[in-house]
Amino acid sequence: MFVRKARNRYPTLTAKNAVKVGHPFPLSSTGMQFEIVTIFPGLFTGIFENGVVQRAQTNGLIEVNLHDLRAFTHDRHRTVDDRPFGGGEGMVLKPEPLAEALASLGIQPKAERYRAFQEDTESAPDPAARTRVILLSAQGRPFAQALARELSQLDRLVLLCGRYEGVDERINQLYCDMELSIGDYVLSGGELAAAIVVDATMRLIPGVLGNEASSEFESFGVADAEIDTDVEGVPRSQYGAGGLLDYPHFTRPAEFGGISTPEVLLNGDHKQIRLWRREQQLRKTLANRPDLLEHAALSREDRKLLDRILQETSEIDPRAFF
Ligand code: ADE
Repeated sequence: MFVRKARNRYPTLTAKNAVKVGHPFPLSSTGMQFEIVTIFPGLFTGIFENGVVQRAQTNGLIEVNLHDLRAFTHDRHRTVDDRPFGGGEGMVLKPEPLAEALASLGIQPKAERYRAFQEDTESAPDPAARTRVILLSAQGRPFAQALARELSQLDRLVLLCGRYEGVDERINQLYCDMELSIGDYVLSGGELAAAIVVDATMRLIPGVLGNEASSEFESFGVADAEIDTDVEGVPRSQYGAGGLLDYPHFTRPAEFGGISTPEVLLNGDHKQIRLWRREQQLRKTLANRPDLLEHAALSREDRKLLDRILQETSEIDPRAFF
């Protein structure tokens, strides 16, 4: 992970970051680049230095670069915010440091980049066409797995972390391809949201997860029809989530806290296991996210199962559990 601190505009030369220092912001030929512009780069310490995201960096599959917005201020106090025009609570992130940070990353205003999208061809791909700039804000469109999948196809993703009351709207209008929210609640800033977008996106890049197919089988995974051919005869966590939530998982010991692992998972009958898991997916989705069922890829068998579950649950008043 590369951190550009406020005091020192360019990182010190070490064996590890020598390439980046020599060419501060080249487009990566090997991995997807995530550029995070923030006033709190320290918030990311730890998040990108562990687990899958760290391994992906070590393996050159992704690059995460943090850019301290204060590095792009020119006053003694390194001011990044100002009072809102028209009055009101809080402070707004000023446009100039953000525009300068983006320029330092070679990011042109949208209008120019959109020309590159139009001119982009397979034989002469334009890097601007493989780049997106996203503003993290509570006002954004909701982030979801389908968008993570789209973003994972890019070469470069620039994430602007909003703070205070927000970001001067002209930055949004001039540079941002999308305003994105991770949920209907207000965070203190876009940093945690940016970390979530990086995590959810990078794990969909081929090669990042040990098991290539494993992200397909999780909650919100692609429909069975799309991955059937990948799994033919593979006796493991078969079949895509098809837009449903994942099924419950069990590991050793077979009995814990007085609860036994369902017998079906212990007997090695993979057809039975597949059926049981599918039923559990339907049950969990029905209980926790019934809205997903509307767009889920459901087979005739699924619908029959669902009818049976609905019949069963109609006999129980779910409010009794709360
Ligand atoms: N900043 C503040 N709240 C946010 C949210 N819910 N999603 C993304 N960025 C945010």
